[in-house]
Amino acid sequence: MKAFEIKNDIYWVGGIDWTLRDFHGYLTQRGSTYNAYLIVDEKIVLVDTVKHYLCEEMLDRIGSVTDPSKIDYIVSNHVEMDHSGSLPRLMEICRNATVIASPNGEIGLKKHFTADWNFKVVKTGDSINIGKRNLNFVLTQMVHWPDSMVTYIPEDKLLLSNDSFGQHIASPERFDDELGWENIRDEAAKYYANIVLPYGMQVGKALNAVSGLEIDMIAPSHGLIWRKNINNICELYKKWSGNVTEDKAIIVYDAMWGSTETIARIIYEVFEEKGIKAYLFDLKKNHSSDIMTHILTAKYICVGSPTLNNGMLPSVSAFLTYLKGLAPKNRIALAFGSYGWGGQSISQINDILAGCSFDMLEFIKAQYIPDIIEIKELTRRILGGIV
Ligand code: FEO
Repeated sequence: MKAFEIKNDIYWVGGIDWTLRDFHGYLTQRGSTYNAYLIVDEKIVLVDTVKHYLCEEMLDRIGSVTDPSKIDYIVSNHVEMDHSGSLPRLMEICRNATVIASPNGEIGLKKHFTADWNFKVVKTGDSINIGKRNLNFVLTQMVHWPDSMVTYIPEDKLLLSNDSFGQHIASPERFDDELGWENIRDEAAKYYANIVLPYGMQVGKALNAVSGLEIDMIAPSHGLIWRKNINNICELYKKWSGNVTEDKAIIVYDAMWGSTETIARIIYEVFEEKGIKAYLFDLKKNHSSDIMTHILTAKYICVGSPTLNNGMLPSVSAFLTYLKGLAPKNRIALAFGSYGWGGQSISQINDILAGCSFDMLEFIKAQYIPDIIEIKELTRRILGGIV
């Protein structure tokens, strides 16, 4: 395994997780990478590590440049184990290395690993000289954990951004222009929608904090390194962090005997009549993490379930739990569904969507088999008020 030089004396030494398909509930159809970076200067620095089971791959790549025992500093931009999982093994090899982390990073690492390591705690504005270069640190709390920070090297105009700007893609390519913007953009959106979305305010602050920096390369800790599409991805991050939406409707449902699906298709048809792009997602056929990519920029969110045992279908309940946790903002929502008696699922969905602070439309329900003309008229009246 070889290191890959991304700038003069700065190497990608990460691990490629080709078979990863589940990242705590996020469907990662294309695998992922855990990007670690080796900087060879008067001091030898490793920025982040990899998941524990790819440690040997990382050590191999480091070994193609230098003896891993010579590492002086290990910058831990983020405690989560996809980036710190190989720290214990590495610290056995370079016992005298100093771990550089944010204040919460030190606390988090000590909670995860009981080893007695040398720590240097840094805050925004702190800098460490390593020879020809300086490592500047900016804390980016909650992007993605309270400990998160980024490392900036002004001499190389390089931002090592950790989770920010990442994408779950396993590939032999290392740079965005090698795989192509269209190919990466959707995975960057999926990553944002499923990992970063709850922290829009903090992303906005982080973008401000780095906005004055001269950057010609952003090297995240997952996926491809940005060197061609830096402006494009920064513009998208501004849009996503501001919950800027488009005139499009996402209709998510599950059904038992087809009646809730019939209502879903009527809602779809009426949005189409109104000139609004609409997307139908049957939860039996679509993964919640893929649906979230579409919700990221959708103004309208419609969720439907029939009533089963006085409640909604478990698939819809799971989707709503996921949606609520990711907390998109500035949305308009609508609950719908069919029922035989009871009909509790519709009001339950309505309450959960209202609990997400969405602006709620009147809900749509139909007993047994929907009367298509009646439901279409009702939907036209409801959507007519807003579209
Ligand atoms: Fe890639 Fe929050 O870890």
